[in-house]
Amino acid sequence: MSTQTLQGRPAGVKPLVVMQDVGKSYGNVHALRGVNLEVYPGEVTCVLGDNGAGKSTLIKIMAGLHEHTSGTFEVNGVKRNLASPRAAQALGIATVYQDLALAPLMSVWRNFFMGNEIRSGLFLDAKRMKTIADEELQKMGIQIGDLDRPVGGLSGGQKQCIAIARAIYFGAKVIILDEPTAALGVKQSGVVLKYIAKARDAGLGVVFITHNPHHAYLVGNHFVILKLGRLTLDADRHELTLDELTAEMAGGQELADLQHELGGVDPGKTVDPDNPEIELAGPGKPRVQSHGTDDDATTKGEV
Ligand SMILES: Nc1ncnc2c1ncn2[C@@H]1O[C@H](COP(=O)(O)OP(=O)(O)OP(=O)(O)O)[C@@H](O)[C@H]1O
Ligand SMILES: [Mg+2]
Repeated sequence: MSTQTLQGRPAGVKPLVVMQDVGKSYGNVHALRGVNLEVYPGEVTCVLGDNGAGKSTLIKIMAGLHEHTSGTFEVNGVKRNLASPRAAQALGIATVYQDLALAPLMSVWRNFFMGNEIRSGLFLDAKRMKTIADEELQKMGIQIGDLDRPVGGLSGGQKQCIAIARAIYFGAKVIILDEPTAALGVKQSGVVLKYIAKARDAGLGVVFITHNPHHAYLVGNHFVILKLGRLTLDADRHELTLDELTAEMAGGQELADLQHELGGVDPGKTVDPDNPEIELAGPGKPRVQSHGTDDDATTKGEV
């Protein structure tokens, strides 16, 4: 039996991607500062954060769309500045964007081979491409039915799954998924989460970007939270519970402060509208609605 580290990772497994003290500025805007991140093969690394936190900026650096402006970024132990998506792909880094680079009017199999078409002489080898696409989707347990169907007619979850299967088939070592479950309902999200786990089982390093701590916790080995471009949490699964992750996402210390601030508020209480505890004077309301004597009207919280 192989030895395992505390994280459950076989000893000696090296990270595919290492970011150290990475920063990215767009002119005066510091989108990322001092970010440290490791992506291991056979694991799901979840990147959580609110709108504008820097999640897309982080993955754009990995995907070769933007170059970082400080710190170091290593792929397989070699320092890199990826100048193009092609450079990232050549290193085995595939990205599935939320708006997916699939052509809606083209068939499933054409989409599967888009940019990597198999030819027989001058012509496309449709038969072979269809057979391979069919085999690969089946291997992942993805049910599409007729592969001649245009991709535009498939559900969001099915489209995500095709993109994941395609990246695995074309040799990705790292697959980055930018909010793959954001626009999906519960069942479809479940399907996509299942294929995230399959990509992990195939030995890929999965980077799963999401707003949703519940989705992250269903498949994640490692969790980081970005806030205003900085990491505010960096933990392995054994180091935190779903409740802790949810609380951190909801604001962590800020939420604790807010709870303190709301100390006197009883959250479960209901009030009889005919007998309010506080009387508000406003347009359309009599200035004073006293339930007592005229004298105590002024002490009833008029505002
Ligand atoms: N090309 C750009 N030029 C200038 N500022 C940018 C650019 N791209 C992103 N930013 C800024 O960098 C910060 C981080 O943006 P980013 O898109 O990485 O956030 P995000 O976490 O992906 O947000 P969302 O959840 O909304 O997708 C934001 O303040 C954003 O306005
Ligand atoms: Mg984004």
